[in-house]
Amino acid sequence: MNMTQVDNTVRDGHRLGGSALVELWGVSKHYQQGLDSVKAVDDVSLKVQAGDFVSITGRSGSGKTTLLSLIGGLTAPTSGGVRLFDQTLKNLGDSELSALRAERMGFVFQFASLIPTLSTLDNVRLPGIFAPKPVDTAYARKLLDWVGLSDKLNSYPAELSGGQQARVSLARALANQPDLLLADEPTGNLDVETEWEILSLLRDLNQEQNITIMLVTHNPELAKYGDRHFVMHGGGLTESYQWLGEKVPIDG
Ligand SMILES: Nc1ncnc2c1ncn2[C@@H]1O[C@H](COP(=O)(O)OP(=O)(O)OP(=O)(O)O)[C@@H](O)[C@H]1O
Ligand SMILES: [Mg+2]
Repeated sequence: MNMTQVDNTVRDGHRLGGSALVELWGVSKHYQQGLDSVKAVDDVSLKVQAGDFVSITGRSGSGKTTLLSLIGGLTAPTSGGVRLFDQTLKNLGDSELSALRAERMGFVFQFASLIPTLSTLDNVRLPGIFAPKPVDTAYARKLLDWVGLSDKLNSYPAELSGGQQARVSLARALANQPDLLLADEPTGNLDVETEWEILSLLRDLNQEQNITIMLVTHNPELAKYGDRHFVMHGGGLTESYQWLGEKVPIDG
């Protein structure tokens, strides 16, 4: 990553004093496959500030899902460290890590992963089962109204279109009012128009509620709407531009 050409005083002007919400240093995740070692994530360092909207693109197999899993503490790095909300993940026990996820983070997984036997409303209320405080039903309804599904509260996932399922996943990820949203191709198999609708919901969340967003997308056009864009390639991460009042490319 070539950061030297970026004037950080401009970029950080409105964030002075704050430490990074997400920080990775030298993070690698290697998997052993037979005799080969696959470098799913390879020596990634990254700082994300509160309020950032980060987008990540990259070819299939480049390590995007693995990177989000490492950031979310769903998998542990082979080497390097992850710091979230001023806590170093490897110093946390399982229950502390679960609590951090339940209270402060929302996940939209690559495949909608709704529970087929639960209604739309119950899928959104689900995170409350694992969290210390239950999800208020009125709040779950409000989220579903916000994603445009107030007429589908009692439908089951099989009765919803792919785009509607993606919206339920987004509402579910927000049910615990997270500070950090990790979204792994939330618009995976959707048509372009639905993709834009979901992107605009994400933008509103970021701008109006100051939720920090890390979005993995296969669509480079969508990725442009983040403040910062990264590309993954063979497990490595490169920043391609930052928002400095206008999009400024960072030449590698
Ligand atoms: N649990 C695992 N065991 C072994 N190898 C894995 C595991 N998870 C991921 N990998 C390998 O790590 C690499 C990165 O996978 P990852 O799922 O992070 O890619 P991705 O960028 O999300 O791809 P896609 O765009 O297809 O979702 C791939 O080569 C994959 O085969
Ligand atoms: Mg993936």
